[in-house]
Amino acid sequence: MAPDAPSTPPSTGMLPATLSAVPETALWTLYQRAAEARRPDALLHDPKAVELVDRIDYPFAERFGHSSLQAQLQALRVACFDREVADFLAREPRGTVVCLGEGLETQFWRVDNGRARWLSVDLPESIALREELLPPGSRQRYLAADVTEFGWAGEVDRSRAVLVTAQGLLMYLHPAKVRALIAGCAERFPGGSLVLDAVPHWFSRITLSGRMGNRDYQVPPMPWAMDAGERDKLRTASPAVAAVRDVRPVGGRGLVGALLPLALTVPPLATRRPSVTVLDFAERLQRS
Ligand SMILES: C[S@@+](CC[C@H](N)C(=O)[O-])C[C@H]1O[C@@H](n2cnc3c(N)ncnc32)[C@H](O)[C@@H]1O
Repeated sequence: MAPDAPSTPPSTGMLPATLSAVPETALWTLYQRAAEARRPDALLHDPKAVELVDRIDYPFAERFGHSSLQAQLQALRVACFDREVADFLAREPRGTVVCLGEGLETQFWRVDNGRARWLSVDLPESIALREELLPPGSRQRYLAADVTEFGWAGEVDRSRAVLVTAQGLLMYLHPAKVRALIAGCAERFPGGSLVLDAVPHWFSRITLSGRMGNRDYQVPPMPWAMDAGERDKLRTASPAVAAVRDVRPVGGRGLVGALLPLALTVPPLATRRPSVTVLDFAERLQRS
């Protein structure tokens, strides 16, 4: 080799992640799942998340710090979504799970039943990283699209039962877009359901003030919020929303486990807590 030839750095097998703004939040949720899964008393079994964090060249600890409370709360939220997906697959083993804003979620590896179809929809930069890190199997499809434009819906096979999930997504959207997304899903997937989570208004306000985060990481604004006590308002998004149901976290470790039953039942926290909700869509809209 010529003495002045550029040298290629030795490969470390690590993949760089250059996500920013809202797509970067998928690294935060991944990191929290992995942190929880590494514990001997983990609430979440997620070896794929641990593997990804170990493979991605990104300063996780510097950017996000470490909080076992955040990891645990994240795991409780994830478990709510996993439970809903597992119940759906028990009823509809050949159904389709449509994961909006899926980021680097590893739910497929936690709850897949070997028969279902999975469609992941996310912004182009997130899907590019997902394809690199988690190449899709024969029953998985990844689609680079903005979920608020409904092109992705045309890619869903309507002959199968459909469950749409929006985990850690809607809070980043404008409220009018959230309403349109719920209405669009309700009208396009009769008989289907949507599982979504929401941050309460007080939390959204802190993010909007720019005061959430640390020296190295600023949490993006979350303009859409819903207090747990106002979930019934989601019915007004469309007459095709037939039922609204609370999905409550169960279990929890230490103080969180001890306080959770109170947090879920005693106001004001019970009505102003982060929440997971299922919307069931009417089979066919009754038009008067
Ligand atoms: C907090 S992450 C959640 C990722 C994953 N659902 C999870 O729980 O780990 C938010 C995700 O929403 C995606 N996202 C935000 N706005 C979007 C939009 N308009 N269309 C598609 N994806 C979007 C981001 O790219 C990111 O992957």
